Amino acid sequence: MPVTEPARIVVLVSGSGSNLQALLDASADPAYGARVVAVGADRDGIAGLDRADAAGVPTFVERVKDHPDREQWDAALTARVTEHRPDLVISAGFLKLVGPRFLAAFGDRYLNTHNTLLPAFPGIHGPRDALAYGVKVTGATLFFVDAGMDTGPIVAQVAVPVRDDDDVDTLTERIKEAERKQLVEQVGRLVREGWTITGRKVTVP
Ligand code: GRF
Repeated sequence: MPVTEPARIVVLVSGSGSNLQALLDASADPAYGARVVAVGADRDGIAGLDRADAAGVPTFVERVKDHPDREQWDAALTARVTEHRPDLVISAGFLKLVGPRFLAAFGDRYLNTHNTLLPAFPGIHGPRDALAYGVKVTGATLFFVDAGMDTGPIVAQVAVPVRDDDDVDTLTERIKEAERKQLVEQVGRLVREGWTITGRKVTVP
């Protein structure tokens, strides 16, 4: 029987890393088809890095302020991720837009998860903006990153109802539960079955 190596995933984080944890937990099962080979961050002292340490996964940090300009930060981040030979790079609460060099290296295999139903409410305050607008349904979107902010081709979306008594915290948490489940399911599907991106359309055979 052929031995199929699990896909190599690098996860980028800036915060609590609950999406990262969901991937770490899922990939403990060899049947999942992927393993997290490194975790990168744009800042020190975050729970996401502790979660990687606890799982025995190597970490790296590239802070923008340690580089003369954004372009050189982008080059450094690209080099760090390249070292780990990823099949897929996943931005999971990573609060930076990468630059052209990173996108040239990983643009067809760089995923981001966003906590609204895109194209509504892009940016870092998605649930707050959705609540302020008064939508009754929001959710989470998994997409391949392009040069825009939360504009790339969509892999999957999950809807989450907004309740009358929601505040930003309760809505954010309810979205995150659905978001983690979607991320784990869809990443597993992508690594096991492959994908093609044609224009804005993502197809899994
Ligand atoms: C996620 O909801 C993501 O969509 C948003 O930030 C959150 C990150 O959460 N951009 P965590 O760090 O994975 O817990």
